[in-house]
Amino acid sequence: MTSMKKTLFAAIAVALMASIATPTFAGKGDIAYRQAVMKAVGGHWGAMKTILKGQGGDKKDFAGHAHALNELARVSLHAFPKGSSQKDGKTRALDAIWEKPADFKKVADAFIAETAKLAEMAKAGDMEGAAKQIGMTGKNACGACHKPFRAKKK
Ligand code: HEC
Repeated sequence: MTSMKKTLFAAIAVALMASIATPTFAGKGDIAYRQAVMKAVGGHWGAMKTILKGQGGDKKDFAGHAHALNELARVSLHAFPKGSSQKDGKTRALDAIWEKPADFKKVADAFIAETAKLAEMAKAGDMEGAAKQIGMTGKNACGACHKPFRAKKK
């Protein structure tokens, strides 16, 4: 083998190893990241519901949670990269996310739009409107995405 060929061979070997090793690694990291984002979504969601029910927390903090939820809705657009499916690790994200990208984009956009409305109402101190908007968000965003795109809990 000439040294030129050796170098080429080594370069190909490295490239192959990288292409084999990266997806599994990135997949697990991407899944962990998405689940962390969704846990944060669920956290703000639960906090707002608790405030609305008057069971705890403080009304003056409601707008902060609503704003954070809207930010997380934007972040969640980037939380579903290819290579983070059930083939790649332990996740409840269904293949339909990547098989029907247009449908998925629609609910992801609805998530941003509904939470933007919620954040606006909350900022304006319209708690009655915000309470209704929580219902709309639950239906048109959380539920509309979880139903077709999230596997049931085992
Ligand atoms: C665009 C789709 C989509 C929207 C909108 C969405 N989710 Fe999710 N959610 C998912 C998927 C997919 C998973 C599963 C993630 C995984 O296992 O990798 C998930 C997981 C979760 C989890 C479990 C996190 C964990 O791993 O412990 C909670 C809690 C949650 N979502 C709450 C919510 C709430 C509340 C809303 C609305 C305010 C919402 N989600 C909106 C797709 C969505």
